[in-house]
Order: sequence, then C-alpha cells, then structure tokens
Amino acid sequence: MAFSESFLQELADRNEITEVVGGYVKLTKRSGSNLFGLCPFHSEKTPSFSVSQDKQIYHCFGCGKGGSVINFIMEIENLAFRDAVEFLARRAGMEVPDDRPDESRQRRERMLALNRDSARFFFRQLTGPGGKAAQDYILNRKISPATAKTFGLGFAPNSWDTLTSAMKSRGYTEQELADAGLARRGKSGRGVYDTFRNRLMFPVIDVRGNVIGFSGRILDDGEPKYMNSPETLVFNKSRNLFALNLAKKSKSGYIILSEGNIDVVALHQAGFDSAVASLGTSLTAEQARLISRYAKEVIIAYDSDGAGQKASQRAIGILEKLDLKVRVLQLPDGKDPDEFIKMKGPDAFRNLLETTENHVEYRLQRVRSQFDLNVDEQKVECLKRSAEIIAELSSPVERQVYSMRLAELTGVSAEVVGDEVERTRKKLLYRAKKQYERDSTRTVRAVRPAAGTPQYENLRSARAEEGLIRLYYLDPALFDGADISPEEFSSPVLARFFSVLREKAQAHTQLSMASLAESFSGDEISLLTNILNDPSVPDAQPNRRRAMDDYIEIIKSEKQSGSAGDDLMALAQQMRNRKRYGG
Ligand code: CTP
Ligand code: MN
Repeated sequence: MAFSESFLQELADRNEITEVVGGYVKLTKRSGSNLFGLCPFHSEKTPSFSVSQDKQIYHCFGCGKGGSVINFIMEIENLAFRDAVEFLARRAGMEVPDDRPDESRQRRERMLALNRDSARFFFRQLTGPGGKAAQDYILNRKISPATAKTFGLGFAPNSWDTLTSAMKSRGYTEQELADAGLARRGKSGRGVYDTFRNRLMFPVIDVRGNVIGFSGRILDDGEPKYMNSPETLVFNKSRNLFALNLAKKSKSGYIILSEGNIDVVALHQAGFDSAVASLGTSLTAEQARLISRYAKEVIIAYDSDGAGQKASQRAIGILEKLDLKVRVLQLPDGKDPDEFIKMKGPDAFRNLLETTENHVEYRLQRVRSQFDLNVDEQKVECLKRSAEIIAELSSPVERQVYSMRLAELTGVSAEVVGDEVERTRKKLLYRAKKQYERDSTRTVRAVRPAAGTPQYENLRSARAEEGLIRLYYLDPALFDGADISPEEFSSPVLARFFSVLREKAQAHTQLSMASLAESFSGDEISLLTNILNDPSVPDAQPNRRRAMDDYIEIIKSEKQSGSAGDDLMALAQQMRNRKRYGG
C-alpha cells in the first residue's frame, strides 16, 4: 500500500539519518555537512561511505549504494519497504497507518497478541513447578537454559484446558483460541480443549518478531512427534521457517537448512547461528525465496536417512532455481545434526561444513538418472554433463576422485574422462574471467553512470537529463512553465525519475528521498542518489535558471539530431495507416 507523503516525510524527519546510520556505522565528520564511515555494504579499508545531513541521504562512492533513511534500513536490515517503514516508525514511537479494513486488522492483532501471551504462558509452565518433566527432557537433550530462553521454549502441560482457561481469564474468547489453532472444538461442537498437550513448545517467530504459531514436540514416544499450528490468519507453514528470526542476523553468509526443531536449537547452541527448519513440510518455493533474501548460499543438513536424502534432492531443485548456491552435508550413518554434534562436537561439525565442497554426489546422481548408459549417444551426453559438474571443483584431488568414479560408471577410460574434465574446467575459468570483467565494469558504471561508458544511449543528452533531475529536486518551482517533458528524454530511467519527481512535486510541496523509496527499485534509488549527490556539481548554482535552459537546449538538440530514426518510424506508421485506410 502507499503511505501518505506527509507520513513518510514525518517518518524521515523523526529518524534523522546520521543518527540512524550512526547506530550501524561509526561516522566521523569530514567536509561540510557530510559524515564519513566505512561502508556497511561492501568491505573496505578507507571510508567512502558518506551521509549527508542536508540532504538526508547516504551514498557510497565505492559500491554505489545510496538512498534515504528508509532505503538504508531496507538494505541493512534486509526488510521490505513496508517493514522498514514499520521499523523506523517503532524507533521514533510513531503509529503506522494501516489500510487494512479495521476489522480484519484487529483480528490479526488480537491473534498475534494471543500467540504472544500463549508463548509467555508456555514459558512460565516450563520454568514453574509443573514443568519438571519438560525441564528434564530439555536437560536430557543437552539444551542449556540460556538456549531455551533464546528460543522462548515452553511447555504445554498434559491437560485439556490449562492454556484455554488461562487465556480465557485474560479476556480471549474460545472462538479466538480456536481461530488461532491453540484450541479445538469438542465433538459436540460446544466447548474447546487445548490443541497442544504434554509437548515441548517452540514458538514460531517471523522476521518481524511476531509469534505466528507453534511447533510442539511430544515429550515421550507418542505420535505424532511434532504438531504444528494449523494455517491461520497469521500462520502459513509454507511461507515461514523456524528460527529465521534468529538466522537472519547471522554473519555467516549461508543458511543451514535442517529438518527438526531440535536440530535447529542444537545447531544454534553449538554456534551455528544460521540454522533454520521448515515446519514439517518439505521445502517450498516460498520458503526458498524467503531464504534468498538473507543469504546467497544454503547448506542442507537433513538427516542422512533415505527420507532425508530424498528431501535434499527436492530442496536442491527448488533452491537452484533461485540461483542460490547449494551444498549438502553428508552426515555419517543415519545421524541428524543434533546427534552428530552431541557425539563429535561442534568442531567436527564445522569441519564438515567447511569441507563439503558442494553437492557433487547429488548432482552426478541426478545427471546419471536422466540417461540410458546402454545407448552410446546418451552415454556421451551423460559424460559431458557430469564433466561439467566435476570441473567446477576447485580441488584437483577431488576432481580426480570423481573423474575416476565417473570413468568406472561409464566404462570410459579414466584418462579420457580426466581430459574431458580438465578441458571443461579451462572453458569454465575462461567464462568466469569474462564474467568477472563484465561485472566489474558494470559496477563502475552503476557508481558513476556518467563516467563515459555507454550505459546511456546518448551520453550528452543523459548528462543534461541528470542535470535537470538534480535541479528539479533542488527547486521544483524553477520548472514552472519550463518547456520540457520526460518524453523528450533519451534515457527511459531518467525520464521516469523526472516524471515521478514532477508528479510528486505537483501534488505536494516538498520532495524527499524518503517519499521516493517506494516508487523505485534499490538500484534505481542508488542511481538517483548518485545523480543528486554528484560531487562535481555544486548545489548552489549561481544561476540555476540559466543551467536549466542550457540543459533543456542540449536535450532538445540531441533529440533533433538523433531523429532520423524517428522519421523512419513515422514513415512506417504512415504506411501502415495508409494500408488500413486504403489511402
Ligand atoms: N517435523 C514436523 N514439524 C516440525 C518439525 C519436524 O512435522 N515442526 C517432522 C519432520 O518433517 C520430520 C519429522 O518431523 O519428518 C522428524 O523430524 P526430526 O528431524 O526427527 O526432528 P528432531 O527435532 O531431530 O527430533 P528428535 O527429537 O527425534 O531429534
Ligand atoms: Mn533429531
């Protein structure tokens, strides 16, 4: 939804950018009203990250990232626009306007409150006198009290109505308890009973910190082992992951995906703070997308039993589609991460994490299953595809080991397979080098769009268009009656900046980067910040009107000289019309 301009303006006013950024980056005063620090978005040794008090924007001269305080929070906290707005509103003690119909909003809020109260209730049950059995269980599973607290673990007593009556006495209705999946209706349809009984309770907390549901593990060998909240107004199993609220803060750069809640808890306790689990479903595309917001790499640590292996295969497919790097941990003989860590210790697990190159074995198996090795052509194709997988391994020893295995499998000599692998590797390296060169020039372009690279089709015009945008942002009134329209711009993205700025300025008085955050992508905002913040252009132009006229003239003359193409287009249109109307 769109927030009102005045709300966003107030939000930005009440979240002074140097204060907000200062909470993440050590800033020192340098020139004018600009503060500098080490960029939090790329690694660097000398500060090229600047924050402007005047303009209330940040801008990194190194990586090109930039924008308003809202963009900063989106970027650094990995939040979507709306969530970043809520984050800053909370920081400033402001109410966030909500456009959901009052009634459904209230129901959501009540349900979240009920969940939170229930989580607290379960937590008290665990630590209270009735929680002995569950405490013993936790102890037995080697979960420390500190870890239990981090996860907010709790205990649902072995009773039909402990939670229900406690929550009713807090003013929640039976209907609300049933809607939240915390209670169920009895057979007769009248009265409700607790859903979770005699279970160790794991609150499921979303990335915004709301308790959205629960997983409950039975304390004994009863069935089912895990019970999860049903789908509710606030809980959707396939769109959430257990412990992502904690894992999203990890600095590791990868997410560890495991199966059981206990595994996740054990992993965090052992220092692997980026472990998450799906909630009893096999990994869904939505969960994978969620993960991709927080990490570029996923390490699958499912049980090494048959079911776990199958689930891994499925997960790989889903994760790969999102361009996530995937590795699969091979835990020895039927172990899960929890058991492995308990037996071998955290160091052994870390060792496993670090030595798992990638999911070679899996990928090879997958390729193999697609071909009939009795047919020669298919065998060749299988060999080629497998060689591509092996060629990606950086360790020569591993390449050789897998090559030999592949040779055995296909009945082709080890030498031939080895040659094929090394040839493929050379190709890969060459391609990677080219890609790297392309990427690095692209970064330069993004940082300095006007650095003389042909990102803009017409550089001369684009420079002038940038100039107009800069002027417009500084002083919209200047453009009253000015003879220029975005349609005359040579660059589509600059035209879009100009028309959005103009739209906003015409509807309101003041322009701010904060109010633009929603209209543009992160890259576009960075580009716009670059344009507005161009250090080579002083803000206080002696004669802005003169500059504006010059820019407009350049744009118009460039359009004229490049109009041969337009003539052709017009001609083509004329001919089409003639045909249509028989002219
Ligand atoms: N499961 C589930 N809901 C959860 C977590 C797990 O339905 N919230 C399912 C998993 O899909 C898996 C099974 O329960 O099929 C057992 O998971 P497991 O890895 O054995 O869980 P652990 O936490 O390791 O349990 P244990 O206490 O046995 O170690
Ligand atoms: Mn386990």
